[in-house]
Amino acid sequence: MKKTLIIPMLLSVTLISNAMSENHGHHSSHRTSQTQSMEHHSHNTEFEKNQNIKFERELLIPPKLEGKILDGVRVFDIETTKGEWEFIKGKKSQTYGYNGPILGPVLSLNRGEKTKINVKNNLEEETTVHWHGTIVSQNVDGVHHSDIFPNQTRSVEFSLNQPEATLWFHPHPMHKTAKQVYKGLAGLIYIEDENSSKLNLPKTYGVDDFPIVIQDKKLKKDGGLEYTTTHMEKIHGKSGGYLMVNGIVSPFVEIPQGFTRLRVINGSNATNYNIDLQGKTFYQIGSDGGLLNSPLEMKKLTLSPGERAELLVDSKTLKDKDYLYVNGTKALELRKTKKKGVTQLPKILAEIPKITEDLSKLETREFVLKTTSKSNTINGEEYDMEKTNFQVEKGKKEIWSITNSNGMMDMPHPFHVHGAQFRVIERNEKVPPLNEQGWKDTINLNAGDNVKILIEYKTDGITIYHCHILEHEEMGMMGQFEIK
Ligand code: C2O
Ligand code: CU
Ligand code: CU
Repeated sequence: MKKTLIIPMLLSVTLISNAMSENHGHHSSHRTSQTQSMEHHSHNTEFEKNQNIKFERELLIPPKLEGKILDGVRVFDIETTKGEWEFIKGKKSQTYGYNGPILGPVLSLNRGEKTKINVKNNLEEETTVHWHGTIVSQNVDGVHHSDIFPNQTRSVEFSLNQPEATLWFHPHPMHKTAKQVYKGLAGLIYIEDENSSKLNLPKTYGVDDFPIVIQDKKLKKDGGLEYTTTHMEKIHGKSGGYLMVNGIVSPFVEIPQGFTRLRVINGSNATNYNIDLQGKTFYQIGSDGGLLNSPLEMKKLTLSPGERAELLVDSKTLKDKDYLYVNGTKALELRKTKKKGVTQLPKILAEIPKITEDLSKLETREFVLKTTSKSNTINGEEYDMEKTNFQVEKGKKEIWSITNSNGMMDMPHPFHVHGAQFRVIERNEKVPPLNEQGWKDTINLNAGDNVKILIEYKTDGITIYHCHILEHEEMGMMGQFEIK
């Protein structure tokens, strides 16, 4: 693959885009700036040939932990472990997981309550845990200066004063994030608040409310997983021909009559997913940072790496056996049962504040993301752990204008910030689609896109922003700033 580097730019670009349309889901979403206006399915030939597996294994439902209450603090214990796991039935792979061989538990907590998490590292290498989507300062977040070495435990304490949301946690050590996530480390955090606990939404875990972590991985003939990257895989991000939901290729899940809540996480290293029910209607009720104002009727949805969406699927629209499709491929079999579930859809979900400030009075900061055949940069620079790129004032709103400058490489970039939830105010100079008008921490930019967000930091210290294609992040498509 390295040899593409020495051939002229244009030629190497052609090779790259061919490789991409054959192997990845990327292309399906490019040039489509509005997630709701996607016109066609992407066709992922590699998924289809590999996915020829019967839907005979039940969806893995990770344990949902409530922790224990000690002196008024909700305490969770998690640990990284090495394990063995069958992504494909009968084929073992070496993996990493939290509290088990693959993925991790759901940590369930309430808004505003004191929470403590003890993280023990049983791996043979350092790790950190980043609480993706939480509004916490970086000294309790596990990013680059907070390695947990083998056999060490790190405890962090915070209260999440933010609305109902489906968040996740994953490793974030320098130069090892991509590999550790790919090997299986990813868990979830559910926040409940006063509003969400009163809403009549499906909320019986594992019955009508399911975590749906979608990933794609490259598996060897023996079913084993290996994280290696060629230069091209660093430039494009690591993707693979096996599509999986909660660590299983082609699982099924039993659903009740009425609505089923799917909390979908794009947990892949680098692939955009177009999710649909082949033309049937479903509802989006939440985005990265919480519930939307009201349920949105949708036919398809794009999620880039790091993004989440809470969906409601109505059994009435489904056949007895039906499927959730990802990039045109059956990813999860939905099997209807006779069990009774929630049959009414709330009209109002949450109150998302209207954007009332005079945007013309706010300062605008520019971020230009660029991929070349050699580098992945923001504003022409690679991340430098020792460098603070700028300062923002605590509690002061700013507009961040983010541009994906790559017409030629045609790479999407999911831009992600730590320690805040923001609002999208413009996508390519237009009002963003409704499902991007709620709280977000990650936003997809296709080649040529510009997105403007309204952001305010309530935390302290140094924080980072980066592309959530994990190989891009590791190549330096990341920056650091200080909140004063
Ligand atoms: Cu999930 Cu720094 O990211
Ligand atoms: Cu994050
Ligand atoms: Cu990127």
